[in-house]
Formats: sequence, structure tokens, C-alpha cells
Amino acid sequence: MKTKTIILLNLLLGLFTLKANSQTPTTFTFPALPYSYDALEQFIDKTTMEFHYDKHFRTYYNNFIKAADANNLNGKSMEEIFTNVSKYPIQVRNFGGGYFNHAMFWEVMSPNGGGMPEGKLLQAIIESFSSYENFVKEFEKAATTLFGSGWAWLAVDDSGKLFIAQLPNQDNPLMDIAPKHGVPILALDVWEHAYYLRYQNKRADYVTNFWKVINWVKVAENYKKTLK
Ligand SMILES: [Fe+2]
Repeated sequence: MKTKTIILLNLLLGLFTLKANSQTPTTFTFPALPYSYDALEQFIDKTTMEFHYDKHFRTYYNNFIKAADANNLNGKSMEEIFTNVSKYPIQVRNFGGGYFNHAMFWEVMSPNGGGMPEGKLLQAIIESFSSYENFVKEFEKAATTLFGSGWAWLAVDDSGKLFIAQLPNQDNPLMDIAPKHGVPILALDVWEHAYYLRYQNKRADYVTNFWKVINWVKVAENYKKTLK
């Protein structure tokens, strides 16, 4: 009798799980922050990180999940979605961008970051921007001169060359609405919510400190994936 009850309970649990999974077949996970909130103090303070990750990022994610469900996007890759983003309602562009861009931003930083890129990535940077110093200058220019909210990007274009982009709001170079298409390998959030508590209006100081925490190992990995 006891065994029968357990089997029945397991069956019901199995059916419930199947039903729950079929209703939410999401492939979009909310990634854990790869370090503690205070790990990047050289760049950004703990409170900003807490709000940025746990409030802003989570809200983008939650709203994107709603937009994904409403537009039958589950099962598609972010690349696939962004390639056709102009065909979807604006929520997909804004919240999908907010989700993807921040997820990349957390990953390209590390408490053990800083220093310089090496190997093939450094070589590609020099080929595309004449020198590493010039790349830094150009990237800082893109990040500081972007009017209003948006992101600075280092991306790989369709011919394999690196380029820098400044894009508004939550747009990114994978989107079909981007002036130049590319695969992003490094991202810097220049929305005021990313820096205002510590830097107030001094976005340039925030941008300068970004170099202290860049996870070049991760950026090199991102670059390697784009090589055919
Ligand atoms: Fe942000």
C-alpha cells in the first residue's frame, strides 16, 4: 500500500513537472554574478553593483522573459533574435538587449582583471587600431562621447576585423538595426545607473577605471569564438 502511494505520488510529480516545463520552456537563464558585489571596488562600489545586478539587470531579464513568451522566442538563440530584432515589438530590442548586454558586461570584468590583452587578441587590436594605446583612446572616446544612455563596444566585423561602436539605449552590434554589424567581445555600460553613485557626472573617470578590471582572458575567449 505504502509503495503504491509513493509510485502514485511520483507519477503525479512527474506529470506536474512535465506540465510546468511545457509551460515555461525557457532557455534564457539569469546568470549568477561571477564575483561578490564588492569585488570590483577599484572600478565600482558595492551598492552600485547590488542595484545594477539585482535590480536593473533582473528587471531587464524578467521583462525579456515576458517578451520572449509573448513572441514565441523560446528556443531561439540571442544571436538569432537580434538578427531579426527590427521585426519584433520594441520590448524585445530593449529588454533583450538589457539582458544580453549586462550578462556580457559582468563576464568581461574580474577582480583579477586589468593589465593588457595578449597573443592573437593583442595582435588583432594592433592591426585594427595601429596600437594598443590608440585602441584605448578610441574606446574611451566612444564611451565618453555617447550622448545619453548606451554602451561602448569592441566587436568583430563580418570580415574578422575589430571595430569600436557606441550604441544608444540597450542596442548592441548583433542587432539588425545597428549601423555596423559585428559580434561583441567587450562591453562597457555607460548608463548613469552604472556609475552615478560613485562618479556623479564624471563619466570619464568611470571609463578610465574600467581598464583596471577588464577580464582580458574572457575577452580573448570571446574573440577566439569569432575566428573561423
Ligand atoms: Fe546597466
